[in-house]
Amino acid sequence: MLVLLVFGVLLYEVPLSGQDETPPEAGEPLYNYASIRLPEEHIPFFLHNNRHVATICKKDSQCPYKKHLENLKYCWGYEKFCKPEFRFGYPVCSYVDMGWTDTLESAEDIFWKQADFGYARERLEEIHVLCQPKETFAELQSYTQLNFRPIEDAKCDIVIEKPTYFMKLDAGVNMYHHFCDFINLYLTQHVNNSFSTDVHIVMWDTDGKIRVTILARSTEYRKILNQNELVNALKTVSMFEVQIVDYKYKELGFLDQLRITHNTDIFIGMHGAGLTHLLFLPDWAAVFELYNCEDERCYLDLARLRGVHYITWRRQNKVFPQDKGHHPTLGEHPKFTNYSFDVEEFMYLVLSAADHVLQHPKWPFKKKRDEL
Ligand SMILES: *[C@@H]1O[C@H](CO)[C@@H](O)[C@H](O)[C@H]1NC(C)=O
Ligand SMILES: *[C@@H]1O[C@H](CO)[C@@H](O)[C@H](O)[C@H]1NC(C)=O
Repeated sequence: MLVLLVFGVLLYEVPLSGQDETPPEAGEPLYNYASIRLPEEHIPFFLHNNRHVATICKKDSQCPYKKHLENLKYCWGYEKFCKPEFRFGYPVCSYVDMGWTDTLESAEDIFWKQADFGYARERLEEIHVLCQPKETFAELQSYTQLNFRPIEDAKCDIVIEKPTYFMKLDAGVNMYHHFCDFINLYLTQHVNNSFSTDVHIVMWDTDGKIRVTILARSTEYRKILNQNELVNALKTVSMFEVQIVDYKYKELGFLDQLRITHNTDIFIGMHGAGLTHLLFLPDWAAVFELYNCEDERCYLDLARLRGVHYITWRRQNKVFPQDKGHHPTLGEHPKFTNYSFDVEEFMYLVLSAADHVLQHPKWPFKKKRDEL
């Protein structure tokens, strides 16, 4: 699937005049003021940086912000020509006892740069263009130029036209860390001088999750009786992204089945024809034939021929058949019953499969972990 994301993160110098607005129908405001999405007391600062809006406001009888037009010298503080006396605010320190500085002035300066709009100024100073060929950034290096024009050639499944933020989250799992994400987003609005909330936010997650797919069976036999229990155990491993599928072609077309299999790192299923899907796993994948029902070679050989890692249940005393099985004509048979599995043993085996994936040289996220 090809997704083309169009985004721009650049500050534009906006000329003061030279806008030729064609006056719209009487009664309609000349600008969508509601789209500014800032509290009223921040409007002067916004107008300072968006003189074209101020200009429109001046000639628009509908502009609700006329009273702010006198205050255009106010600025957030990070702008190049922002005079200190007009900036949004500046910290006041009354004593210094922290050890990180010894004068009130430098304490105020440090506070402003680290916890106030001074921070935005420093970010603005270090801003640079990301998407330029030649230079490679860890997260963009696997992207290559296309030899066609995706939009013109109608090759896109999705075209996103709204302004889009890509966010690499600090952490969504706890409030403390997630707050950093909100601050970053707010800061980015300032850096880009755009406060609209009519935007997309894409969570940029490149940490390699191991995608575990469990192939369920809707047949009468070889059901995993404690499937929920096994799935819940898998879900306790944050590295795992777990999904359960049932490859019934009437409900899930073959192409979709392939798409799922090919985007699976650990494929788990009971002995059965569905395991043939292992042919379409990626090279670094592992297939876990949960139980081979005493048909030992079938999928083991197929996995070997395909070149993917194969494991199966090891301990006979940790798998629990529902009964001895009943083949329509042959009588007792291990393929003709359902099974439950010891959860601990199951997890041990899945984690060993995960190890294989993580160690595989082709695993796309294989890298030195350098984060704290
Ligand atoms: C960033 O600013 C540019 C230029 O004003 C604008 O076109 C774009 O939509 C803004 N991006 C976001 C995500 O708001
Ligand atoms: C296995 O489970 C299915 C579905 O729950 C059920 O129809 C079938 O009778 C079970 N088989 C045995 C041997 O109990």
